[in-house]
Amino acid sequence: MVGRIVGTGSYVPEHVVTNDDLSKIMDTNDEWIRDRSGIAERRISMDEGTSQMAAKAAGKALEDAGMSADELDIIILATSTQDNLFPAGACEVQEMLGAVNAAAFDLSAACSGFLFGISIVNAFIQAGIYQNGLVIGAETLSKVMDWSDRSTCVLFADGAGAAVLKADETGIRHTLMGADGKKGSVLSCVGRTNGNFLNGRTPEFGYTYMDGREVFKFAVKKIPECVDEILEESGESIDEVRWFVLHQANRRIIEAAARRLKQPIEKFPMNIETYGNTSSASIPILLDEINHKGMLKRGDKIIIAGFGAGLTWGAALVEW
Ligand code: UT7
Repeated sequence: MVGRIVGTGSYVPEHVVTNDDLSKIMDTNDEWIRDRSGIAERRISMDEGTSQMAAKAAGKALEDAGMSADELDIIILATSTQDNLFPAGACEVQEMLGAVNAAAFDLSAACSGFLFGISIVNAFIQAGIYQNGLVIGAETLSKVMDWSDRSTCVLFADGAGAAVLKADETGIRHTLMGADGKKGSVLSCVGRTNGNFLNGRTPEFGYTYMDGREVFKFAVKKIPECVDEILEESGESIDEVRWFVLHQANRRIIEAAARRLKQPIEKFPMNIETYGNTSSASIPILLDEINHKGMLKRGDKIIIAGFGAGLTWGAALVEW
């Protein structure tokens, strides 16, 4: 048995922030942001936290799967912007959904988090331990942006996406996960500084820092490598792949990956223009979008791939 994606759902906050809106609070403009990233607008949460958005996306995914919350064995919330250090956001989601039989925990792998999540749930299903799992990617990145750092804050946004996995004969065929901690400093958001009564320091939160060029170089190399590796492991031909669902970080990264893989750009659905980079949520939001547009047919082979802070990367070959 393997995990098959039997339901998807997504949720984004109502508040739309356009590039022109940002140009009113910092030295930037619509042309620069569109040209360099492909982003036109993004959603920013006014009041909703990560767990609330995660639960909304998850509720829709369960409905889509025709599954009730108490059938879930495991809930993984992939996020870097959990509302609290503890309890885990996944436990809050479990409570909000009424998923009383599910183990629940958060997973920190930044933009690769959703991929890591489905790899883990798939492994539990393959091992015969669990039958039904829920993987959510949800972020309120707006709260960890330095809104005076125009090179980074214009890219990131808030949102949530989810997928329900069920044990079946076909589904997730191969997954890979990777990490390179040596490159950690190119994309980071330092947490609480060590403050306590002995050293007299007050705990402080940091903001997101990114060396955009380094991350860009890494991504355009790593994404095609991941795709090649997953195809080689599965013995599948690239031309048999219907869709490449990639992490929505930058339109130029996706276009470069398509060129390197010698595949038509039409096989790479994108929604970065509307939602910006929602980190762990970007892949499940896109997956939900193409699912509900009727672009996914039973038996379609799709490759999902992403990269992010850590640095981390992951990919999966999925039979729909
Ligand atoms: O999921 C996490 C993964 N993150 C990523 O995938 C990000 C990967 N990196 C990128 O997407 C790109 O590197 C960026 C979009 C972040 C930047 O694009 P770039 O082509 O590498 O631009 P740059 O950083 O080299 O900056 C070019 C110029 C600079 O001005 P000078 O030094 O040439 O005069 C920047 O100061 O653009 C300037 N600039 C801006 N101008 C207007 C930087 N940010 C802005 C801005 N508006 N928001």
